Amino acid sequence: METVVSGIRSTGKLHLGNYYGAIQNFVKMQHEYNCFFFIADLHSLTTHPTPTDLHSNVRQVLVEYLAAGIDPEKATIYIQSEVPEVSELYLYLNMNAYLGELERSTSFKDKIRAQPENVNAGLLTYPVLMAADILMHRATKVPVGKDQEQHLEMARTFGNRFNRLYKQDYFPEPYAFNFSENLVKIPGLDGKGKMGKSEGEGNAVFLSDSPETIRKKVMRAVTDSGPTAENQPKPTEIQNLFDLMKVVSSEDTLTYFEELYNKCQIRYGDFKKQLAEDIIVATTPIRERIEDIAKNEAYLRQVNRFGAVKARESAQKTLKEVREIIGFKRI
Ligand code: TYM
Repeated sequence: METVVSGIRSTGKLHLGNYYGAIQNFVKMQHEYNCFFFIADLHSLTTHPTPTDLHSNVRQVLVEYLAAGIDPEKATIYIQSEVPEVSELYLYLNMNAYLGELERSTSFKDKIRAQPENVNAGLLTYPVLMAADILMHRATKVPVGKDQEQHLEMARTFGNRFNRLYKQDYFPEPYAFNFSENLVKIPGLDGKGKMGKSEGEGNAVFLSDSPETIRKKVMRAVTDSGPTAENQPKPTEIQNLFDLMKVVSSEDTLTYFEELYNKCQIRYGDFKKQLAEDIIVATTPIRERIEDIAKNEAYLRQVNRFGAVKARESAQKTLKEVREIIGFKRI
């Protein structure tokens, strides 16, 4: 059976981008593959969280994984920092990762623009740590959104380089995966780019947002003054809202508003009201489960312990083999 690995950074509440870009695939894949889903708390250290925030964010992502439908009996759910083997593999892979290629990574360039006061080495080697997460379980499929595609290419590069260096066919090539044909990029509500936690207030709809909050955010989403000619192409901010509607609403609803737009009869107020209601329908069951699971300390502890044991079993096997390949031997 093929092995699947994916993770989400522990930087707080999950949004629709995380859900439709990644988690929805996790939930489906757990029935068909040997799955490892983790909470990337080591990756979150690049932004220097306080100990209290770090802990509550890790817990939040664990709760939301479970609420979204990841079944700990089917998939292995674990916290990255509880599998120390990942840090060791990261060290080995760092020896074959070159400054030039790391500096060219799009996410590194974005990050140094976003936090120029904190350009730490962890940001530079972020893709190496990601490669370690994936290669650790010798995974071949990695369910992620479109923004992670370049990182997957780097994971293949580092794995192949290790294989070549030691003349072994050890790490298989991991590829980004989505059940639909293409990787997904869920747009935000600000009319600009993708939905993201750090893209500013009101850009992201969180799975835990109340119906009133969702209505407020969607009604405030950026729109223009409306189409002036029939079948006119949509400006980005309008296309973004249609793209969101495509993932949360029925085909009939989407077609209905597309036709109104094309006939210049669309009323953005009605369009956004419908979009908000459809987001609420999609997220309400998850939000309710988030509230329930968050109260169940004993269950969370049990899931955490069980997952860490299973993840370490797989990680220790790989590390033992990697150490032998590299040539570490007892004297
Ligand atoms: P992170 O935490 O930024 O995002 C988690 C997952 O959500 C997806 N995603 C989106 N998909 C579509 N549209 C969006 N607007 C959107 N926003 C986020 C991301 O593509 C991702 O799949 N580096 C990773 C975490 C990670 C990882 C790994 C992933 C660490 N190690 C190993 C896979 C395998 C990250 O920061 O994702």
